[in-house]
Amino acid sequence: MAENTDTAKLTIKGETYELPIHSPTAGPDVIDIRKLYGQANVFTYDPGFTSTSACDSTITFIDGGEGVLLHRGYPIDQLAGQSHYLEVCYLLLYGELPSAAELEKFERLVTNHTMIHEQMHNFFRGFRRDAHPMATMVGVVGAMSAFYHDSTDINDSHQREVASIRLIAKMPTIAAMAYKYSIGQPFVYPRNDLDYASNFLHMCFSVPAEEYHVNPVLARAMDRIFTLHADHEQNASTSTVRLASSSGANPFACIAAGIACLWGPAHGGANQACLEMLKEIGSVDRIPEFIARAKDKNDSYRLMGFGHRVYKNFDPRATVMKQSADEVLELLGVEDNPLLQVAMELEKQALADPYFADKKLFPNVDFYSGIILEAMGFPTSMFTPIFAMARTVGWISQWKEQLADPQLKIGRPRQLYLGETHRDYIDIEKR
Ligand code: SDX
Repeated sequence: MAENTDTAKLTIKGETYELPIHSPTAGPDVIDIRKLYGQANVFTYDPGFTSTSACDSTITFIDGGEGVLLHRGYPIDQLAGQSHYLEVCYLLLYGELPSAAELEKFERLVTNHTMIHEQMHNFFRGFRRDAHPMATMVGVVGAMSAFYHDSTDINDSHQREVASIRLIAKMPTIAAMAYKYSIGQPFVYPRNDLDYASNFLHMCFSVPAEEYHVNPVLARAMDRIFTLHADHEQNASTSTVRLASSSGANPFACIAAGIACLWGPAHGGANQACLEMLKEIGSVDRIPEFIARAKDKNDSYRLMGFGHRVYKNFDPRATVMKQSADEVLELLGVEDNPLLQVAMELEKQALADPYFADKKLFPNVDFYSGIILEAMGFPTSMFTPIFAMARTVGWISQWKEQLADPQLKIGRPRQLYLGETHRDYIDIEKR
């Protein structure tokens, strides 16, 4: 990090402490409080880590006020428009855009690792058919550590690399199998002649009874959705992966923890919740009723797909996602999709409302993704598994970066204790 001679001065009960300030290549300066507890016997307090940097990183940068998202310095709209998911995976993992030869080798490596151990098929059959695919993914991905023992040693750089490729390659296969199992159709094996997105669509939608041809426009839209979800700084699920990894847990356990965290409706589960909200609204004339509920202080209801911890401007991913939604719905001849009409009118009315404008609550990445995925034929229960698949490269890149950090130590936050102080046990007869 760029050294900064400035210091922050903190005075507590007449004693002044000087805290180092570190300057980033972009974004706010940080005050280094690592020695504060030892010097002043105080903790800092920041529920939800709204003002706390837990690490330094070179992978992704977000400027929430300007609606900027950079992966290794490259803007997300350029990557979504000119690159493709596996090239973005290479960029996130290794820090630079690949040469043609490097990309060809990386894509071949991923393609050749898309099958899962045949015995893992049995895992799926232990779930009820109506299990949420995210439950299946948490279970099956965590169980990968029981099958791939030769890539669990986090201190071996080769094993870290093998685990990274295995996870990126196998997540689409696992997600597709979770989907097929939930609809009672046979598993479809990956095909090495298809690109990453086409392979996923083929594994989800082909059936043994007839030929399935992947529509290249849908494959491109699928690939773009993967790219838009690839990484996003220290969001809740990435922070979960980092915290799990800080104890030395194996990569498959860490990614399973990330999947579990992503599932929540405040995070990756918002794309499913957003589409369910649009369906519940049903028609544009009911929008005011739902906006009123979202504004009501006494109602915990929130507009799914709106707001963001960091973006206080448009989420640049939502802008690209909306363009994709228009293309896919036009291709499928459903440009007058009632859900899209409701979504666009909801966006228009919410952004015209001072409550949302003042609180800077804009549509986020989840607002339009569900509309595309539903138009493609995915059930809402598959929206978050698709998010998890795409985010795996971000989790893995951050996991590798943390393991290479000489400052790495187990994550162990402190607390503001408000409970009982010492008191002696009371025998039950005397209570
Ligand atoms: C993702 O972190 C990431 O980068 C995540 C992500 C990624 O790529 O990893 O971008 C993916 O998780 C996107 C977010 C998806 N979630 C949703 O769409 C669910 C709906 N959004 C909210 O739950 C909320 O906006 C959060 C959780 C996303 C952010 O919450 P914050 O930053 O903790 O904000 P807050 O809860 O403190 O809200 C600030 C104010 C509150 O009002 P006041 O108490 O100040 O009066 O805004 C209100 C909130 O009530 N508010 C909303 C709202 N979101 C916030 N009011 C109505 N509808 C909403 N959606």
